[in-house]
Amino acid sequence: MAFRIVQLTDLHVFRDRQTLLKGVATWHFLEQVVELLRRLDPQPDAVVITGDHTHDELPETYQAIRKLLHPWLDRLWQVPGNHDDRTELRKAFHDRINGTADAPIRFGFSAPGWLCLGVDTHIPGSVAGQIDAEQIEWISTQLQASPHVRCALFMHHPPVLLNSIWMDAIGLRGRELLAELCGAEPRIRLICCGHVHHESRSRQGHAAVYTTPSTGIQFAPDSDQPKFVPGQPGFRIIDLTPAGYSTEILRISEFSEPVNVPS
Ligand SMILES: [Fe+2]
Repeated sequence: MAFRIVQLTDLHVFRDRQTLLKGVATWHFLEQVVELLRRLDPQPDAVVITGDHTHDELPETYQAIRKLLHPWLDRLWQVPGNHDDRTELRKAFHDRINGTADAPIRFGFSAPGWLCLGVDTHIPGSVAGQIDAEQIEWISTQLQASPHVRCALFMHHPPVLLNSIWMDAIGLRGRELLAELCGAEPRIRLICCGHVHHESRSRQGHAAVYTTPSTGIQFAPDSDQPKFVPGQPGFRIIDLTPAGYSTEILRISEFSEPVNVPS
């Protein structure tokens, strides 16, 4: 049986559950998405959050997310996005995230045939992200120590340009370093990201690069400027086997009636 990962990304919730983000009730949608996750069969072996847990970066908001995701806490893996505070994220999930204060938040776990790594692209105070030589060195070291023949990376900022002028401008600095590694390292097969709030597929070296819809607000993929669209929130399922992987997006509407944005 496959090792199942669910990727949640870009939750953007607030301490006050009624607060809207550009008219979108992000808490309301997150609860719907989590209900979808609860009904998923088989259940995931790992739940990965690729950043932007909160929009307000407050301790109470991180605690509320922890409470909501309690059923999967024993298999939860996280990296920060630009809308995250490493210190507060670390405090709320102290039993899942090691290290101290503002140190990078990353993870590594194994699935049959696969090494799964979380890469921290957060720059405090910046919307854009960064990958640097130290991060590349960390990935390389993990790969060298791993017996697995395939590797999946999880990170907030996509390591590719998506032909969206405004999103690419707030993309990943240093992506050429990762491009070089992905070209030289055929074991990196899969890279799953958030940040762009829509579904896409592209390539970097030997790896397929996927972006995943937000659990709340959706961005238009082809706009030159910020544009929010009424797409259905959801998450990505990734089923890993020793022979490869399959992946799909599940959205709220596939299990229930379409949910309108509450006014
Ligand atoms: Fe986001």
